[in-house]
Amino acid sequence: MRTSKYFAFFYLSMGFLPLLFFLLLVSTVYNYIYYKELLVLTGVDLIVFSVLGLLEIYKRTEKIKTNTLVKNYINTVKSNDYSIIVGGFDTKSKEIKQKQYKVNVNKYTSVLDVLLQVKKKQQNSLAVRYSCRMGICGSCGMVINGKPALACETNFMKVSKDKVVTAEPMQAHPIVKDLVTEFKDFFDKHSSVEPHLIRENVKEQMTGKTPYDQKPSETNKFLPYSYCIMCGLCNDACPVANSNPEFLGPQALSQAYRYQMDSRDQSEGRLTAIDKLTGLWGCEFAGACSKACPKGVDPASAIQLLKLSTVEDDLKK
Ligand code: SF4
Ligand code: FES
Repeated sequence: MRTSKYFAFFYLSMGFLPLLFFLLLVSTVYNYIYYKELLVLTGVDLIVFSVLGLLEIYKRTEKIKTNTLVKNYINTVKSNDYSIIVGGFDTKSKEIKQKQYKVNVNKYTSVLDVLLQVKKKQQNSLAVRYSCRMGICGSCGMVINGKPALACETNFMKVSKDKVVTAEPMQAHPIVKDLVTEFKDFFDKHSSVEPHLIRENVKEQMTGKTPYDQKPSETNKFLPYSYCIMCGLCNDACPVANSNPEFLGPQALSQAYRYQMDSRDQSEGRLTAIDKLTGLWGCEFAGACSKACPKGVDPASAIQLLKLSTVEDDLKK
């Protein structure tokens, strides 16, 4: 009789063994994470630390579940009753042809995501330029719902009207194919304003051993203008750049101002080069460039300040 009692006790204890191993594991991990010690506990300590560990795991899981971002993501409903109308330039017919595609979006989908979805699943010949997908490279500029914008920075659901978004190539740049435009003229105009530091002593620029010092107050004079990512949206929004291909455009002029205001720059000719009707004086101050800029560069103000500098320079002569 006594022997059978011992056997019953033995079998019951065997049932608890997995639980004990589990508690042992939890307490060891808990100790390692919080006290950086590989401490294997036994007895009461083991149970206390295991319970603490389990409570911590529970607390953390609850915290993750209540995190707004995670909650939003869990609650995100995918919807496929949205569509995009792509006004792509057809290289054969030399015309802009519109085509509508049904797309699958959620509240985080950007217009660029949608275009890539169309390219992957419906029309793999669709030409769209992009690189960083985070508003840094300036490659994905296009006209979205009639306004120049970066496709990767535009939330699809936010801009959709009656669940439809239109995407077209920019107008102030020659079109290559579909949504891709040619930037050669844009970059040429940018280069023409010498967007780099010019020093009287050119040799010293190559051989100088010390940096050119600049006070923060001096840097602040041009800093906002140095955020340009050369996306070309300002030129596309500008009514003058759209009607006069000779006009330097807000991008190049704002970069002329950026270097003109740099205390390290010693250029004499930059202002003279842009002091003309197709340069500074072509600007009619519509202000559309500053509105379109995704980086807050404000080319419109740069152009007016440059006009002031040239007048001041002329008065000094
Ligand atoms: S000024 Fe703004 S809109 Fe114009 S090219 Fe630079 S970043 Fe783009
Ligand atoms: S992909 Fe780089 S700015 Fe949009």
